[in-house]
Amino acid sequence: MADKEKFVAKIQESYKADAPHIYLGAGVLNKEIVAEAKVNLLLRMMNRHGLVAGATGTGKTRTLQVLAEQLSNAGVPVFMLDVKGDLSGLNAPGSNNLKLEERASALGFTYKPDGFPVEIYSLSGKKGAPMRATILEFGPVMLAKILDLNDTQTGTLSVLFKYADDHKLPLVDLSDLKKVLSYLSEGPGKEEIKESYGKISTATSGTILRKIAAIEQQGLGNIFGEPSFDIDDLFQKTDGRGVISLLNISDVQQQPALYSTFLMSLLAEIYQTMPEAGDLDKPKLVFFFDEAHLLFKDAPKAFLEQIEQVVRLIRSKGIGVFFCTQSPLDIPETVLAQLGNRIQHALRAFTPNDAENLRKTVKTYPRSDFYEIEEALISMGIGQALVTVLNEKGIPTEVAVTHLTPPLAMMGPLPQADFNSLTEHSEMMQKYGAGKDSVSAHEILTERMNRNAEEEALQKETPEPRGRQPKEKTMAEQILSSPVTKEIGRQVVRGLFGMLFGTTTKRRR
Ligand SMILES: Nc1ncnc2c1ncn2[C@@H]1O[C@H](COP(=O)(O)OP(=O)(O)O)[C@@H](O)[C@H]1O
Ligand SMILES: [Mg+2]
Repeated sequence: MADKEKFVAKIQESYKADAPHIYLGAGVLNKEIVAEAKVNLLLRMMNRHGLVAGATGTGKTRTLQVLAEQLSNAGVPVFMLDVKGDLSGLNAPGSNNLKLEERASALGFTYKPDGFPVEIYSLSGKKGAPMRATILEFGPVMLAKILDLNDTQTGTLSVLFKYADDHKLPLVDLSDLKKVLSYLSEGPGKEEIKESYGKISTATSGTILRKIAAIEQQGLGNIFGEPSFDIDDLFQKTDGRGVISLLNISDVQQQPALYSTFLMSLLAEIYQTMPEAGDLDKPKLVFFFDEAHLLFKDAPKAFLEQIEQVVRLIRSKGIGVFFCTQSPLDIPETVLAQLGNRIQHALRAFTPNDAENLRKTVKTYPRSDFYEIEEALISMGIGQALVTVLNEKGIPTEVAVTHLTPPLAMMGPLPQADFNSLTEHSEMMQKYGAGKDSVSAHEILTERMNRNAEEEALQKETPEPRGRQPKEKTMAEQILSSPVTKEIGRQVVRGLFGMLFGTTTKRRR
């Protein structure tokens, strides 16, 4: 009994929340759910990032749902990677079932289902409003990762980007990339670049072209293009509640390089364009990366370093990033070290590998007067987690086995009819649904080549070249009026992530 009193006192002191916070659930001691031992996470500490980990089926995704729901209620917009496409239910109230009611009543409240404002995106454009980026925004390094290029091929890609930049050829979609590549490797540009940029071998350009074709064959070509996604759209609110933006990647799960680079370039753009925020009462936006091991799998060192850097720096912009994965060991150490808030669901100890994981995880926890950490990690139930977060002073709270609060919205995907109606009426679908084809590298080079051919023909007939002025004007006018050129400043920011991380372009928010 004395033990319980001590426990309640300790948890209440450690998780004291006088400021806006998320209610995670109640502390558990000796298998007893102690409702008055409330476990909270301060909103102002959410830009110190976090980790949600645990074996499959232990409740990680629902924990993300709980966090997203309460953030939305607090007016904080949320971005979530929806790996299986089963988070759209956030839009509709959950059903009153016995399990959820029991969970709520064990925590001392009555279950009241609720739905939240949701916006659904997808990279393919098939599972929600298309989230696109231009080739330029991806930049050579990211693109090289997506296309799985070696160093020589990556070098060639960088030359291509440099040439396009020097010659004001907007790289928007894959057709632009292909056009510039063949122009420089076997077209009229071949001689032109020899001196200033170096020669591009046809073998290298051939390989790159084949890899581009492979992406197109998988139906993923549409990811590159216009209108490209405007990060401002992630900061929306509806009736004071933060909009939960879901990026459904269920149909591109097999291309982790594709969506992980896309996400990282989004984060990089946010980092580069947002002003310093100082300490805020609540974050401006929180990112949730479910199944984060996919993000780090086979990632080259340079890419990992960039992730580490963006995660570290984005904090001061008032953005929180939460990773969700089976084992903390899935996350590179340098990133893990920056995740101040930890919600660890149960781990398994079946295989020697599991046991090793478990031992390593135990070591990352501070000592507890109330639990044997290893025992707690393997014995927690579904929807329970070992929690330690940062208190208002930035100090880790007392480790608490926590019986987590139930999500208020539907767990799982929306029924198809509701899903269709949600996406059909979405403003973002209006904005991004149809692609647009603006004057970019492909058109400019085609025109240039046609003109050269014309001039050559003309020169053969009459010695004095004519008819050049008006044509050039038309082209210049076209380029200047192109939305691509207008947006070039913004595009460069994201693209630079791959080249010269650190240069900033200012944009107000
Ligand atoms: N906080 C919770 N409240 C109510 N039920 C939960 C909670 N967490 C998990 N569950 C139950 O456990 C199931 C598995 O959870 P899920 O989050 O999908 O696991 P994971 O993502 O770790 O594989 C859910 O479908 C749900 O029925
Ligand atoms: Mg899950």
